[in-house]
Amino acid sequence: MDLCIIGSGYVGLVSGACFAEVGHNVVCVDNDQRKVDALHAGKIPIYEPGLEELVQRNVAAKRLRFTNSIEDGVDHSQVVFIAVPTPPQADGSVDLSFIERVAREIAGVLKPGQYRVVVDKSTVPVKTGEKVTDTIKRYNTGADFDVVSNPEFLREGSAVPDLMKPDRIVIGGNSDRALALMKKVYEPFNAPILVTDVSSAELIKHAANSFLALKISYINAVSAICEASGADVEKVAAGIGMDRRIGRNFLNAGLGYGGSCFPKDIAAFIAISDDLGVPFTLLKEVQRINRDQKERYIKSIRDALWVLRDKKIAVWGLTFKPDTDDVRNSVPIEIVNELIKEGAIVTAYDPKGAEKAKEYNLCPGVKIVDCPLEAVKGAEALLLATEWKEFASIPLDEVKKQMHTPLVFDGRNFFDPTTMAELGFIYRAIGRPILPPKAA
Ligand code: UGA
Repeated sequence: MDLCIIGSGYVGLVSGACFAEVGHNVVCVDNDQRKVDALHAGKIPIYEPGLEELVQRNVAAKRLRFTNSIEDGVDHSQVVFIAVPTPPQADGSVDLSFIERVAREIAGVLKPGQYRVVVDKSTVPVKTGEKVTDTIKRYNTGADFDVVSNPEFLREGSAVPDLMKPDRIVIGGNSDRALALMKKVYEPFNAPILVTDVSSAELIKHAANSFLALKISYINAVSAICEASGADVEKVAAGIGMDRRIGRNFLNAGLGYGGSCFPKDIAAFIAISDDLGVPFTLLKEVQRINRDQKERYIKSIRDALWVLRDKKIAVWGLTFKPDTDDVRNSVPIEIVNELIKEGAIVTAYDPKGAEKAKEYNLCPGVKIVDCPLEAVKGAEALLLATEWKEFASIPLDEVKKQMHTPLVFDGRNFFDPTTMAELGFIYRAIGRPILPPKAA
């Protein structure tokens, strides 16, 4: 099929590449000409495992191309996906101005007798589909089109496999003609398809992300109870996760959720429910627990080091999660900035996020180095803030040798407490019993 994706950000770019990979002809539209040129040359603006090869392969096979012209995209495609940003506003509600502008632009280029399915892939509040329909009709009275909601569930760091092998595909539409075309788009993915009305599909996205965030806050609240009682949150998570009704996924206690989706989407769902007159107050508690988790951990660092001023602290991990270079809304960066504010001397290492952290000046005052062992040299504490796999292969005896004091704060329960104690580390995890370090 001939498909167009408007917006070559995370969702747009990965979706476009995956659609091309299964055999569709895809044109990705972006209003940033420099980005369009770079993508044509096979240069990817984000780090996402497998994406670069996917884009290069499909550009070479002529199934994937990039343009800055919406008209070009819409003219050549039966289905037009909107994948532009929906950033948060100060009050938590969603800024829909990019969506509205794209709707007007589509209306401006739709030709008479040219039926198009306009698909909203961006995360939007329920009822946005109706607004997009009204807008296109207002600016093009003769347009022949249907609007469909098709939320995206990919995760950063595993976006390509998430898209190629999704748990489910949600298609919300009110027209059989549009739904038939959408099913054809997704046929090659061999995944379960859930067909709903437009509003239900829109709600599924916010409800799913909020539920996942709720699971994280739940286990983080349990981790605080474990710390107060001497229980082990990893064992508790294993025990409750073995119940298939609950499941073990997303029950990893840590520093709290971050990134460009959960914080924004939970705030948006609260604003949406307020707007509809049915306040979803449970989600405010989810937010509060998330904030507390970070503050509780900073307090435990403060408690161990007494005064943070002039203390040398090494930090491993700056991205909001592993396998991405995304440092936006990163809890590790928020913690690093708090340590700096209190006068600590911070040296950080991140396998992929260092460049962007420097480029956007996200943690001024932090020395970012290229090697994890260099970061720990002379450190009075090490904070593991992002669970990058490569941290498992760093020799811990060498880490200990390099440090001034073998004090490790493990914000992701990455290491094994018994091993750490045996190696002589003073080891502080999240929601896990404190074992006395073996004497050297
Ligand atoms: C999330 C959802 O998982 C995707 O399904 C959704 O499509 C995406 O948002 C979106 O709306 O675009 P993402 O933010 O990329 O994906 O990453 P996640 O893997 O969900 O992690 C989010 C945050 O939760 C991270 O800070 C991570 O460290 C934290 N987390 C996750 C935990 O603290 N514990 C867990 O058990 C799982």
